Amino acid sequence: MNILITGANGMLGEECVKVLSKVYTITACDLQDSHEYDGSAVYQKLDIVDQEIVKNIVENVQPELIINCAAYTDVDGSEINRKTAWNINAGGVRNLLSAMPRTDCKLIHISTDYVFDGSSGPYAEDQPTKPINYYGQTKLDAEKLIQKSGIPWAIIRTNVLYGNTTVQKASFVRWVVEKLQRFETISIVNDQFGNPTWSFGLAEAIQKIIDKKAAGLYHYAGKDYISRFEFALKIAGVYDLDPMLIRKTTTRALKQKAPRPYKAGLTCEKIKKELNIPFYSIIESLNRMKGNS
Ligand SMILES: NC(=O)c1ccc[n+]([C@@H]2O[C@H](COP(=O)([O-])OP(=O)(O)OC[C@H]3O[C@@H](n4cnc5c(N)ncnc54)[C@H](OP(=O)(O)O)[C@@H]3O)[C@@H](O)[C@H]2O)c1
Repeated sequence: MNILITGANGMLGEECVKVLSKVYTITACDLQDSHEYDGSAVYQKLDIVDQEIVKNIVENVQPELIINCAAYTDVDGSEINRKTAWNINAGGVRNLLSAMPRTDCKLIHISTDYVFDGSSGPYAEDQPTKPINYYGQTKLDAEKLIQKSGIPWAIIRTNVLYGNTTVQKASFVRWVVEKLQRFETISIVNDQFGNPTWSFGLAEAIQKIIDKKAAGLYHYAGKDYISRFEFALKIAGVYDLDPMLIRKTTTRALKQKAPRPYKAGLTCEKIKKELNIPFYSIIESLNRMKGNS
């Protein structure tokens, strides 16, 4: 199968290229001029905001499937740079949809638990959405564009992604590890809850969705429903770092630009039942990441 992956240098995109290139022909796209994939994928520069370029690349590659991992993921930045956030997260999706031939070409798109307000998570697929920040709004707008497009689709919502990336991008695990290795104190919120998700597990779930030709809306997340503070403690534990350097703080004290859902996160009963896929605990995945890093 011929697959085009957007946002291929991001945390999830990179993992998808690694996992899926073992089985499929991959064209990996992102914003930068070039990227080395050791022959596992062909790289093409692609800004999904540029409608003409999107159309040309889709016409040239003739993918049977597009996996959209490209996004503007800066939640606070989305409050300030609203136009940019919408143009990438929703406008980019609209461009992909309008470039896709109305044949069997399918779109797999990644969304977020931030489409919910965080008053009563973890959330199931059929619970009502109500984003409380602009990032969540752009992601919900994209979901709606996809659902009414007429193009075959699967949307997978996930939350608090972590994983090994070779391209040096922001990563919560890497940030915690590097700070604690330098014996710096860090303050982590203890009132935002979710189920952190290993990007490798999500890439495996995407592969299962492809293989089983599954369609529709799915939630995929990690096994442990915990606060960010507890997540940081688990990271310190696995990497043998001093947990006493991790201080509790609150969302209110952080004064972030974008409001955050408190009780966010996702329940995954639907994907578990329909696709029989592995789910990972934080300790298991961090240990495997540590072995791989
Ligand atoms: N990270 C999380 O905790 C999380 C949680 C829930 C859902 N998600 C969703 O999961 C998906 C993957 O997230 P991620 O963590 O892998 O994000 P990421 O690491 O930020 O990767 C996104 C990639 O998209 C690229 N990109 C940005 N604008 C683009 C454009 N106009 N055209 C093409 N590529 C563009 C980025 O390049 P630059 O870095 O150069 O801008 C980056 O390489 C996203 O849809 C995100 O909304 C993420």
